[in-house]
Amino acid sequence: MLSIEKYQEEFITYLQAYSTVKEPVSLYEPVAYILGLGGKRLRPVLTLMSADVFNGNFKEALNAALSIEVFHNFSLVHDDIMDDAPLRRGQKTVHEKWDVNTGILSGDAMLIMAYQLFENYEANTFQALSKLFSKTALEVCEGQQYDVDFETRNNVTIPEYLKMIEYKTAVLVGAAMKMGAIVAGASVADQDSIYEFGKNLGIAFQLQDDYLDAFGDPKTFGKQVGGDIIENKKTYLYLKALEFSNETDKSQLLELFSNTNTSSNKVNLVKHIFTTSGSAEATKTAIADYTNKAFLVLESLNISDTKKMLLKNFGIGLMNRTV
Ligand code: IPE
Ligand code: IPE
Ligand code: MG
Ligand code: MG
Ligand code: MG
Repeated sequence: MLSIEKYQEEFITYLQAYSTVKEPVSLYEPVAYILGLGGKRLRPVLTLMSADVFNGNFKEALNAALSIEVFHNFSLVHDDIMDDAPLRRGQKTVHEKWDVNTGILSGDAMLIMAYQLFENYEANTFQALSKLFSKTALEVCEGQQYDVDFETRNNVTIPEYLKMIEYKTAVLVGAAMKMGAIVAGASVADQDSIYEFGKNLGIAFQLQDDYLDAFGDPKTFGKQVGGDIIENKKTYLYLKALEFSNETDKSQLLELFSNTNTSSNKVNLVKHIFTTSGSAEATKTAIADYTNKAFLVLESLNISDTKKMLLKNFGIGLMNRTV
C-alpha cells in the first residue's frame, strides 16, 4: 500500500497525460479546465486504494479511477448549472466562464469519455465495470432530481433526504471502491462490503458537504458559502432546524425558504437558526455516526489491520476536512 498523497500523485500524473485539448477546442477546453481545477481527488484515490487492499495492482485500476473522476467532474458541471453556482474550487464554474450550452455539451462529452475508459479492460472486467457504472450513474441522476424536486417542497422528511444524498453522492463513493475491488479480482462478498463501506462514508461526506456549505470559510471553501440556503436546499441542517425550533423560528425558516427572491441577510438569519436550534450540532453527530457505521463494515473485511487502519484514517481525514 502507498500513502494517500502518493496515490493522489500517481493519479494526477495519469490524469494530466489524459486531459489534452483536441478540436473543437470549445468542446474540450472546458473539459481540461474542470479536470485541471484540482479538487480533493478522493474518489479515484479510493479506487486505487481499494485495488491494493484486495491484493491487486493499483496501476491496473488507473483507468477505472479516471473514469470515476471524469464522471464526477461531469456531474459537477451539470450540477453547477442546476444549482446556479458561480464558483467551483475557487474558480468560475464552466457555465459562468463560458455559457450554459458549453456546460451541457462538454458535460455530455465527459460522461461518454468516462464510459470509454472501460474499453481498456478485458471483456469480463469491462462488463462488470460498465454494469456497476450504469446502475450508479442512473442513481446519481435520480438523486439529483430528488434534490431539485425538494427545493420547492416543504414536507421533505429526513428519510427522504437520506435517500436523496445516498443516490446523488454516496453510491458513487461506494462504486469507486467496488471498481478497485473488481479490477483486483476480489470475491463478490468483499466487493459488496467495500461498497457498503464507501456508501456510508459517502453519506457522511455529503452531510459534511452540507455543513460546510453553510459554515465553511469563504476564503478557503472554494464554493459560494450559503449557496444551499439561497437555493432553498432541504438539507439535514434545515430539516433538523425545523424539527428543533420554536414556533417563531420555525415560521421564519419556512417563510425564508418559500421563495427565491433572496434578501441579503437570508443566509445569516438561517445560519443563526441552524446554530441556536441545535441542528448544526446534530449534523456533526450524524456525520460521526455514518463514519462509524462505515468503520463497522470495515471490521467484517478479511484484510490486514494495517490496511483497515489506512482506510479508517482516510475516513477520519474526511470528517475533519474544511473543503
Ligand atoms: C463535490 O464533491 C460534490 C459532492 C458530491 C458533495 P467533492 O467535494 O469531492 O469535490 P472536489 O472534487 O473535491 O472538488
Ligand atoms: C452534488 O451535490 C452532487 C452531485 C454533483 C451529483 P451538491 O450540489 O451539494 O454539490 P456541491 O456542493 O455543488 O459541490
Ligand atoms: Mg451543487
Ligand atoms: Mg446540487
Ligand atoms: Mg453541496
